[in-house]
Amino acid sequence: MATALNIGNASPATAEADAVVIGVISGGDAGPRLAAGAEEVDKAFGGELAALLATAGATGKADEVVKVLTRGAITAPLLVAVGLGKDEPGAEQVRKASGAAARALTGVGHAVSTLSLIDLAAAAEGTLLGAYTFTEYRTNGSGGRGPVGTVDLVSGADGAADTLRTAVAVADAVRTARDLINTPPNDLYPETFAARARELAEAAGVEVEVLDDAALAEGGFGGVLGVGQGSSRKPRLVRLSYAGGSAPRAKVALVGKGITFDTGGISIKPAANMDQMTSDMSGAAAVIATTVLAARLQLPVAVTATVPMAENMPSATAYRPGDVLRMYGGRTVEVLNTDAEGRLILADAIVRAVEDTPDYLVETSTLTGAQQVALGLRTAGVMGSEDFRERVAATGRAVGEDAWAMPFPDHMRGELDSRVADIANVTGARWGGMLVAGTFLREFVPDGLPWAHIDIAGPSFHSGSPYGYTVKGGTGTPVRTLHALLADIAENG
Ligand code: BES
Ligand code: MN
Ligand code: ZN
Repeated sequence: MATALNIGNASPATAEADAVVIGVISGGDAGPRLAAGAEEVDKAFGGELAALLATAGATGKADEVVKVLTRGAITAPLLVAVGLGKDEPGAEQVRKASGAAARALTGVGHAVSTLSLIDLAAAAEGTLLGAYTFTEYRTNGSGGRGPVGTVDLVSGADGAADTLRTAVAVADAVRTARDLINTPPNDLYPETFAARARELAEAAGVEVEVLDDAALAEGGFGGVLGVGQGSSRKPRLVRLSYAGGSAPRAKVALVGKGITFDTGGISIKPAANMDQMTSDMSGAAAVIATTVLAARLQLPVAVTATVPMAENMPSATAYRPGDVLRMYGGRTVEVLNTDAEGRLILADAIVRAVEDTPDYLVETSTLTGAQQVALGLRTAGVMGSEDFRERVAATGRAVGEDAWAMPFPDHMRGELDSRVADIANVTGARWGGMLVAGTFLREFVPDGLPWAHIDIAGPSFHSGSPYGYTVKGGTGTPVRTLHALLADIAENG
């Protein structure tokens, strides 16, 4: 059972619930202080709650959770005090603290959170994302200790119901992306991935078109076909379209990499951590979930998602280093490394996407290990046209999906010159691999179109211990960035 959220208006001190969540702010040497929203609970503890929590070891630092048995001081038997870090908490601190609280509430039936008095949307998103579990493949489900059942978010704000509805829709979209990413590659391959995209789209009234391998051959999609030809699971190209109502402010083309498993192909990857290449369709998952979200929220923006899906396998039928592929639209690419497959399927998809004359193009992909080397596991690299890449990166940072704009150094295009074809898929050197991949994609984007490429190789998948609202597995990045960008375009063009 997924966690349910309500707007709560009962006093947290007297609410009939199994637990109450409050925020604690780190005050350095002065000790922890209570965040806004904890006043009534503090009163019930004789105004000494901050001191009591300090005795229990609370400092207020981010990701800290201190549980206190209330023994009748308030109605709920359990108080969960979560750290918000120092300073006045911003949205991301509230989102993270709510996620940490939700994880600490595993097995609890009914909780009341006061973090929503600081930021309702952030509390809602953080709670739902922190409570996310993926138990589809466990024979005993959640083993009797499922995610928190219901959380009442205390709020008296005007428009609270609308704010909550939007936040729940956004979190649901992130959870949908996470589900797709976490589904193992023996069950999620191009055909089944396309079927799931179709189901999600049809349920939201989004138009769907699926090109199978025969249709791809007919259309000349040499990138998707080349990469997919080594697998017994044939490739697909999925197109979702949401019209944006009667007067859309702009047309946005989304493109996402849908490699359902990346072995590297004939240029095979080492065995260590290859299992994580089940997440090589995270970009696809994000753009599918975002397009469905745009329809659910009836955003006044026309959105199309163009999603190439293939499995990159080595086999007797696989494409090889040295092959020349003829991409959709006619340009040729010399394959020097079959593990640089993402850019090949994306080139086809980008050329197809721009046929619809969008006002903006945003593509996202788990494209390069070099992204992880350059920016780490939590910061996406954003490339593209000069102003738009900055806008996309700033939008990501504003919603807690860290992102940084990166350049296209001039010399890199020349390093992609091919002996036989229009361009090669890799250079001979290992330097700046993230930027090389972006430079390759740029070749397929028309001049003058505002566009961005978001490399999410690091941020898309989390294999460490949970923190904030980020749990193990697919993260759903950059769904919230894409949603915020569409909302911004709806408002400001
Ligand atoms: N899917 C990988 C990139 C990747 C690596 C994503 C690690 C997430 C975590 C991509 O297809 C790939 O293999 N890229 C190569 C490119 C190289 C051959 C130029 C890479 O980064 O090594
Ligand atoms: Mn690869
Ligand atoms: Zn890949």
